[in-house]
Amino acid sequence: MENKHTLNQFEAPVSAAMTDYARDGALAFHTPGHKQGLGAHRLLRELITAEGLRQEVSLMEELDDLHEPEGCIKRAEALAAELWGAQDTLFIINGTTGGIHAMLLGTLAPGDEVLVPRNAHRSIIGGIILAGAVPVYIQPELEPALGIAMGLSVRNVRRAVTEHPHAKALLAVYPTYYGFCCDLQAIAVLVHERGMLLLVDEAHGAHLRFSDRLPSQALELGADAVAQSTHKLLGSLTQTSMVHIGSGRVDRQRIRQAAGLLQSTSPNQLLLASLDIARLQMAEEGGERLAGAVRLSERLRAAVNSIDGLYGPGEELCSKAEDRGAAAMDAAKLTVNLDGLGISGQEAELVLRHRYKIQCELSDPRNLLFIMSMADTEREAERLLAALKSLAGEYAGAGNREQVNMAAMPVPIQRLNPREAFFAPVETVPLEQAAGCIAAETAAFYPPGIPLLCPGEEITREVISYIRHYQAMGLRLSGPADGSLHRIRICKGHKIDG
Ligand SMILES: Cc1ncc(COP(=O)(O)O)c(C=O)c1O
Repeated sequence: MENKHTLNQFEAPVSAAMTDYARDGALAFHTPGHKQGLGAHRLLRELITAEGLRQEVSLMEELDDLHEPEGCIKRAEALAAELWGAQDTLFIINGTTGGIHAMLLGTLAPGDEVLVPRNAHRSIIGGIILAGAVPVYIQPELEPALGIAMGLSVRNVRRAVTEHPHAKALLAVYPTYYGFCCDLQAIAVLVHERGMLLLVDEAHGAHLRFSDRLPSQALELGADAVAQSTHKLLGSLTQTSMVHIGSGRVDRQRIRQAAGLLQSTSPNQLLLASLDIARLQMAEEGGERLAGAVRLSERLRAAVNSIDGLYGPGEELCSKAEDRGAAAMDAAKLTVNLDGLGISGQEAELVLRHRYKIQCELSDPRNLLFIMSMADTEREAERLLAALKSLAGEYAGAGNREQVNMAAMPVPIQRLNPREAFFAPVETVPLEQAAGCIAAETAAFYPPGIPLLCPGEEITREVISYIRHYQAMGLRLSGPADGSLHRIRICKGHKIDG
């Protein structure tokens, strides 16, 4: 990351405008109804603080307009664009969910094909429904050592772009939740050679820019537009994200227009200020703080690997080979694989939470995921390590962990696109009688979280028997309204014969 900035990265224009407004002391005859805290309940005052409420106003001229920024928000977005190396940046107050929706609605038209990983986050399917696009699913790679899905392999992307030469865009997830990064640079070349856009769900990668020990961020690898959850790994308030524009291949005004359709006309000023301040924090001390987090995480990983029964995966799972789904790993993430112990990830999460007062980010049957951030110090790392040691001692002895290879499952035929399925009249039928019907909902088992069915797809006997098989294995089902899938929601009036 270059150190030279043209703009003054050490100011926070949104935050400064709010402070100035509050200091000016104008008598409030406007929204919000708590009127700068004067009418707020004591609990709200204690929660937000008196100063926070004094600054919690919106729509004043000096506070600018998120939808047509001309003042402090425009300046704050320009500062963020400079820091992340983007051509333009949009502040988003509805998380990366909102950012992904804006990217898809701002780049696709109804009927456009878009290539997406089969295990894409639900926000991607949401964006596809909004845009009326047609998803072409690409199976992610699986990592047998962990039983989780990795990213897309270059081989599978090559096949997809060859089979769907008219697709408008590919939306890649980079990094995955567990921090594994596909070979995005090679994927960018494949996609751009065919005139397609590379959009990136970088929800878990807003910090990558700030340490040389971390994989490059997507913008540096050729992404045309990127949505990042600033709130996930950096210091802004939950719900705040950014969309960065990486190239002139996308129409940035259209993406702004899409964001304008989707976001409130009364954006919370505290959320906007938190994005501005998180950017300031990264400009002031991002490199140093991220280096600290990576150092701690690497030390922890080495220590975990010296404990009997535990495995902390690292770069050994990464390769630039064409058939691999991980070319690099975010070293600030710490996955702890429990295959060598007689306890599942979900049980271990509960033990850590209730006995050791430690909360992980995520658990699955075989792994725990811990996030190290700029907030952590040696003390937190030591506490986690001590708890993991004692967990390993108590649950010594490997359990039985069956492998699940959902990537081998053929993707069912798509009979309706997700938007058509979303708006179709729906009825519920017993799953066993649904062969030949069209799914109105997703069915995905965790791990690895790759759907067996997505909205609009034909339900086959094979899919039904896989669903029952995975349920018998005790895997967690996500998506259907009826969590047992005794009955499934289908699109009424569509039945495929045969
Ligand atoms: C891969 C991925 N993409 C997108 C999102 C949505 O991000 P947000 O929670 O900021 O809306 C998430 C949330 O967990 C995610 O894991």
